[in-house]
Amino acid sequence: MNDIEERIDHLLGQMTLEEKIGQLNQPMIHGLPGLDLLRQGKAGSIINAFGALSGQGFDHLSSAEACNTLQKAALESRLGIPLLFGRDIIHGQRTVFPIPLAQAASFNPTLVEQINRVAAREASAVGIRWTFAPMLDIARDARWGRIAEGYGEDPYLTARMAEAAARGFQGDDVSQPDRLVACAKHYVGYGAAEGGRDYEQAEISEPTLRDVYLPPFRAAVAAGVGTVMSAFLDLNGVPATANRRLLTDILRGEWGFDGFVVSDWESIGELAQHGVAEDRAQAAALALHAGVDMDMVSGAYQETLAENLRCGRISDAELDTAVRRVLRIKHRAGIFERPFTDPERASRDILTAEARDLARQAARETMVLLKNDRNLLPLRDMRRILVAGPFVHATAELFGTWTMDGRAEDVVPLDQAFRQIAPTGVELWFAATPDLALSRAHYADAVILLMGEHPARSGENANVSDLNLPPGQLEWITAVAGIGKPTVLVVFAGRPLAITRAIAQVQAAIYAWHPGLEGAAALAEILFGLAAPSGRLPVSMPRATGQAPIYYARKPSGRPLREDGPFRTRYVDLPTVPLYPFGYGLTYTRFSYSDLRISSQRMRDTLTVSALITNVGERAGTEVVQLYIRDLVGSLTRPIRELKGFQRMTLQPGESRRVQFTLREEDLAFTRADGSWGAEPGRFKVWIAPHCEAGLEGEFML
Ligand code: BGC
Repeated sequence: MNDIEERIDHLLGQMTLEEKIGQLNQPMIHGLPGLDLLRQGKAGSIINAFGALSGQGFDHLSSAEACNTLQKAALESRLGIPLLFGRDIIHGQRTVFPIPLAQAASFNPTLVEQINRVAAREASAVGIRWTFAPMLDIARDARWGRIAEGYGEDPYLTARMAEAAARGFQGDDVSQPDRLVACAKHYVGYGAAEGGRDYEQAEISEPTLRDVYLPPFRAAVAAGVGTVMSAFLDLNGVPATANRRLLTDILRGEWGFDGFVVSDWESIGELAQHGVAEDRAQAAALALHAGVDMDMVSGAYQETLAENLRCGRISDAELDTAVRRVLRIKHRAGIFERPFTDPERASRDILTAEARDLARQAARETMVLLKNDRNLLPLRDMRRILVAGPFVHATAELFGTWTMDGRAEDVVPLDQAFRQIAPTGVELWFAATPDLALSRAHYADAVILLMGEHPARSGENANVSDLNLPPGQLEWITAVAGIGKPTVLVVFAGRPLAITRAIAQVQAAIYAWHPGLEGAAALAEILFGLAAPSGRLPVSMPRATGQAPIYYARKPSGRPLREDGPFRTRYVDLPTVPLYPFGYGLTYTRFSYSDLRISSQRMRDTLTVSALITNVGERAGTEVVQLYIRDLVGSLTRPIRELKGFQRMTLQPGESRRVQFTLREEDLAFTRADGSWGAEPGRFKVWIAPHCEAGLEGEFML
């Protein structure tokens, strides 16, 4: 037994029942009246969301001093067990980076790691040592507001980002004072909420759960994530917070997770609302038994675990196990050794020039060029450019959801950023109202329309029933584009919106997501050609709300989508295919794909697949080369394509490079008809592709 476990044994031996229960309790404390609670050892962690409501809005109350004051009280308790301060550090702390969905568009795990490394340094400088991130919920229905917080629709891409985020937050050694314990959330299936309505139930079959929803969590566990959060939802009739099979049998039994599980906000108490518990006492017993170690905010553990123990609904062993896991992570985080935060750090570690540079780079790499007729972009030889739309003076509107620590004053307002970056000689006009935009457009050489949704329209509990641009924006676009000047549409959003009618009326379009505090500057660099866009869609972009849910890795159906003839899968009034497919995105040059090579006709353990990628345009550019497979015949139906690899590569004009991927037998594995996991012999297709609907196609056998 290692040193940490011995220390935990020793501590457990000294703890009273009350102190044990205290470690499992995560209250929210408003100010200092909570100090007595801490002196009595009645809290294991504090959720530092002083007043912020589900990530909508700002609260700048976290500080090393505030945490140190609370910590001091905890250390004055009988056993002096330190607190772990948790907070939602979702896409940066003070340095606000693009939302996670945008980060996924970079297809660049290294970037995601660097972002979270910075986030960890900043958050830990104000006393936080635990973040409730990364969110790993596969989201295939853009009505669901929390699609903004995750990495999109694909399990492979999300799994790679999960590892990167865990590494970024935790590093090799999470005990370093500038690291955060990460939390993989929301375990599991939360993104499948029916109708895109947050907190709603989902029905997910066992193979889909295993092959689509669980892999990102498994990857996070393999990467050493310290904690996992149980989701709010009712999954297949069992609320995730009471699901022992998921939280214990799979998470711990199959994957060997040894950190702790925290509930979501009040999700233990809510088991009574779900109707699986009579009251809060039964709810607490169910959750503890399922494997939820810490109670976020509901207070049900604090109120009822002692009585539950007395009446035999839970056992001493169950209680001790939960306490042990919490203490284990506290030890790993080094807070027994270093409970306090150096208040000097904030001025050194927060909002550094390097952090801002990284935020700029991230914004550049995450914007997706969707359309660029006759190479309108980058804008050249234009003297008067009209910039119009609700975002022309944006500052904090660029942040996105869950940015409690972001500050509007840190942002160079969009109009100013454009002025700083536009080439000399370009005259920029700004119009925040349609009337002004219309009157100016006549005299402009080009128009840039900045449309999209306010951050408050995405994120938790911010679902929409209509994926169109917010009311009035399409009319605005139609009127201005109707004047006939070359027009660029830029969309800021926390989800893939249905921009079908808007994009048809403009010559160029950039999907900018909510790009964070350097977003305006990055956008200007892209528009004026100082940088080239390199983002690719991490989600299928729907044509209309009625297509939701939509994703590329569909099953073939007996009457496949893309074949002609009557009685094929279709809508009478809409194509079934998305407006733009998963993986899609343009840049300022073009790439050709040629010479697909497969190392062998038959896979034995591994196989390499390669192709030659050539920059056939006139500028340097970055391509995201994607590897897809299809298992043609299986004991269960298999998706028509599955992403199995990707590589970003930057090529100079005329340059060619061979991209190579290695496929292993386990990359072909899935949950088979008999419930076992593995690959099945047979024929496979393979593509090296610029997106999920194109590419060089080959075949091999297993
Ligand atoms: C959200 C979580 C979040 C928690 C703490 C909940 O409402 O679902 O994602 O981490 O609040 O703020």
